[in-house]
Formats: sequence, C-alpha cells, structure tokens
Amino acid sequence: MISMKALLEAHDIKKAYRMGKLLVPALRGVSFEAKEGEFLTIFGPSGSGKSTLLHLIGGLDRPDEGEIIIDGFNILEMSGDKLAELRLTKIGFVFQFFNLLPRLTALRNVELPLTIAGVPEKEAMERAKEMLTLVGLETRMNHKPTELSGGEQQRVAIARALINNPKIVLADEPTGNLDTKTGWEIVQLMKKLNEEKGQTFIVVTHDPQIAETADHIIHIKDGLIEAIKEAPRGNKP
Ligand SMILES: Nc1ncnc2c1ncn2[C@@H]1O[C@H](COP(=O)(O)OP(=O)(O)OP(=O)(O)O)[C@@H](O)[C@H]1O
Ligand SMILES: [Mg+2]
Repeated sequence: MISMKALLEAHDIKKAYRMGKLLVPALRGVSFEAKEGEFLTIFGPSGSGKSTLLHLIGGLDRPDEGEIIIDGFNILEMSGDKLAELRLTKIGFVFQFFNLLPRLTALRNVELPLTIAGVPEKEAMERAKEMLTLVGLETRMNHKPTELSGGEQQRVAIARALINNPKIVLADEPTGNLDTKTGWEIVQLMKKLNEEKGQTFIVVTHDPQIAETADHIIHIKDGLIEAIKEAPRGNKP
C-alpha cells in the first residue's frame, strides 16, 4: 500500500508557548515525512511535544518556524478559509476524549462533516450508516454518546474522522482513555482501515506496544526527534 510519494512533510518545525514573560519550548526543530498509505506512530514521554506536533501538522495551530506541506500545499501560506477547507477535505482527527457532540446520535455525529461539506441529507445518512457498519456499530447508530461504551464512542469518532474520505488521519492518544483490550481493538480497527482504504495514519501514543504496530515509529523527546525506527513487529498488531 505504501507508495513513494510524501503526502505530508514537516521541515524544521519550532514552537514555543508564551507563558507571561516565559517562553516554553515545545518543539525545537522537528522534520519528518509521511508517505501515502503509511501508518506512523509518534511515541514519547509526557510533555515531549507529541500533541503540539499533531496540532501543527493538522493545521489546528501554527509553528513559530518551519514548513508544513500537505498533499503539495504549503499550509502556512494558506488563508484561514482555504486551510479550513483543506482540513475538512483532507484530514480526519481522532482525540483521546472522543469529542463527540453529546446531544447527537452516533449517526448524526458521523453525518455532520458531510452536512458541513454540503452533501445532501439522504446521501450523508447512507454514507454515515455504511461507515458505522464498517467500524462495527450497525446496531448502535441511534445511541447518543452517553449510551455508548468508551470503545464504541471512539469507533464513532473514527467513523466521523473517516467519513469525508480524508487522505490523512491524525489521532492523539486514541486509546488513552480505554482499557487495554478495547485499546487494542481500536488499534486493530485503525490498521484495518489503513490497509483497506490506504489512508495515511499518524497516531500519537505513549504505549510502546501500540507504537510498534506502525510502519515507522517517530521517537520524540524534549521537543526533538531522537530517532525514526522501523517497526520490529513486522507491521502486525
Ligand atoms: N497551551 C500551552 N501553553 C503553554 N505550554 C504548553 C501548552 N501546551 C503544551 N505546553 C507545553 O509544551 C510541552 C509539550 O506539550 P505537549 O502537549 O505537546 O506534550 P505531549 O507529548 O502531548 O504530552 P502528553 O503525553 O502528556 O499528552 C510541555 O512542556 C507542555 O507543558
Ligand atoms: Mg498530548
């Protein structure tokens, strides 16, 4: 599934947070690339800059320095509107705390990005049903988030992230709020989707076993990449 084309490139990204008079360095010059269809994990201790990196490459925040290219677009040179459109059409986000809308059913949560993108209601519903079936929730479509288990909520979040058929899926500790067994099921689901749909996945984790399910593991510490390693487990969960 891996082709040679770099879908995402990060060049020498730096980011510090301002805390009053203090500058807290979070990333101190980070470069890597993700190829089409690749499954990458970003692995490192708490505070090493993983979430910061994910937010920057997803266009949710801007670096102080550096360059980010997504599918040929230099996202730091794009207007807010264009960047929002790129995020909506090319990037799917999955978060640790699911971030589902509590008043909407699973089906409505998954439909929402399509509705925002202007897809007609009937088609949006059909596609959302298909996606929920793919993640194994065909019998839970009309449940609201509080009526679902943590693992089920994360499946809904993954279905929502994938519904627009994004080229890149960015996941920040997607298993961080789940028990080990459910976490593994979510990892396996992401691996399956990566293999079947060829989407590029970049998954942040501080779990070494999960990190090792990737094609490549980006080891990050104190805002710097220490190493980019090939997975010793032969790419199998
Ligand atoms: N909004 C912010 N304001 C100030 N400092 C911040 C902010 N967000 C993060 N930081 C600091 O930047 C550094 C990197 O934070 P980041 O959230 O990227 O780490 P992380 O690797 O995701 O950690 P964790 O595994 O705990 O989620 C940390 O030292 C953190 O304290
Ligand atoms: Mg984090």
